[in-house]
Amino acid sequence: MRNFLPIAIAAATSFACQDVSVNWVWTGAITNSSLRLRVSASMGGEECDPNALKLFVSQEMTEIKSFNGLNVQKMSESVYLYDFHAQELASGPVQYEIRYGPNKTLRSQTGKITIPTAPGTPMSFHVAFSSCADEDSDPKVFGTIAQHEPLFFVHMGDLHYDNLVVNDVNVFRASYERMFASPAGQAMLGMDLPMAYMWDDHDYGPDNSDSTAPGREASLQAYREYVPHYPLQDKYLLTINSILTIGRPGATNPEDLPIQQAFTVGRVRFILTDLRSQRTPNEAENIPSKTVLGPKQKAWFKNELLHASGKDSGIGLIVWVNTMPWLDDERKWGHFKHEQTELVEFIKENNLNTKVPIIIASGDAHMLAADDGTYSPGNLPIFHAAALGRPGSIKGGPYSHGAIPGSGHFGLLHFEDDGNRVCARYSGRNDNDKELIGYDICNPQPGTTYHPPPVFVRKMTRMWRKARSRMITKWLHLTTLEIVTIGGIVIAIIALILRRFRSSKQEKKRD
Ligand SMILES: [Fe+2]
Repeated sequence: MRNFLPIAIAAATSFACQDVSVNWVWTGAITNSSLRLRVSASMGGEECDPNALKLFVSQEMTEIKSFNGLNVQKMSESVYLYDFHAQELASGPVQYEIRYGPNKTLRSQTGKITIPTAPGTPMSFHVAFSSCADEDSDPKVFGTIAQHEPLFFVHMGDLHYDNLVVNDVNVFRASYERMFASPAGQAMLGMDLPMAYMWDDHDYGPDNSDSTAPGREASLQAYREYVPHYPLQDKYLLTINSILTIGRPGATNPEDLPIQQAFTVGRVRFILTDLRSQRTPNEAENIPSKTVLGPKQKAWFKNELLHASGKDSGIGLIVWVNTMPWLDDERKWGHFKHEQTELVEFIKENNLNTKVPIIIASGDAHMLAADDGTYSPGNLPIFHAAALGRPGSIKGGPYSHGAIPGSGHFGLLHFEDDGNRVCARYSGRNDNDKELIGYDICNPQPGTTYHPPPVFVRKMTRMWRKARSRMITKWLHLTTLEIVTIGGIVIAIIALILRRFRSSKQEKKRD
């Protein structure tokens, strides 16, 4: 009788609340024993109890475990945002359900999620990675990615293109919600794959944004609220005893709140750097203090590289998720030559990228591209994968194994670990699942090098592309120079037509 009462109350609770539904589920931060889920749910009426929404997790041969939301945040009159941490999981397949009360299932898992083995254990697996889609993007690519059943998906930024310039967290929250309500956003979350997400410019702030972005604080706050991210620097803080006060509990200063993360799967260390919130503007004077990472994140990053490359680290390969092109003499890391040189020197001085190779996974440029290290600063192999849905473009180069612009693009990284060495194979693919560029770091084959055009041509092409897109989408917002240029071109074409018309008339008269 004593056990029956709570069950009866719970059943009555779930019966009383009829107007309850899950809007979306975003999984991430997968480790060898845990999985994190951010869940948005709507419920109407006073009879609904937000705390009755629970996560139920089951694994083969184990009992079903339930988890309460660690943080339940009321986002509007009827929408609640939950943060679930499923813990003490065993390696192997896992299934989850979101239920209201003990029995009312609101959402069941649709994808395949596998909990990996303990870090340091040799394990072969593959991940998918890409960036750059918006609400209007074709959702097809996400279905193609899901068919590969990667262990997780690395989203390298431009999750939306709202280019926000207001320091209002509600506006940033609304952008996540709008994206997740769109067909592309639903398809992305519909993959039901754990995700590791690092932003880039358009989802952090405006185009080419940096630490001066007006919405910086709101953007940092919204990321922490919405994203099922890995721990943010806590371990590092404990290690160095707060010599550098990164992400300390209770911190509100944006310099102390970057969102860089690192985690290990098998013997692969993934390091995700935040290249936006700590960065000086691209146009700032080219002096040694000009920075992409900011001093604190840079110290953390160097420490990560040293630690992962150490003799007893148990790491066989480092993947640096470096969201923007590393190999670009003109823009992107090309704006930050001092810092890039500093990092390259650091790698050389410490004999890194030798026993434990470092490879770069990049987005931002809407292309597939691979460089075996021939042209890359520090000789780090580079693998680009984008755009999920936006129009194609090429940035930087040369790339030893080619560069292909386009939409519907993603990359696969397959890690083969024989216990001695970890090999990585890159496969750059389109939404028809055709491999367009491939490269294996342990079995390199020659490729066709892409050489970029001269800087002048690149600049002219960019100007034309920008003007064209503005003409199509926002023609009323053209700058004066653009209006004069386009007007001049139109007048010249009309004059040419009139001239030809007049001369053909004169010829007819003469005949
Ligand atoms: Fe992009």
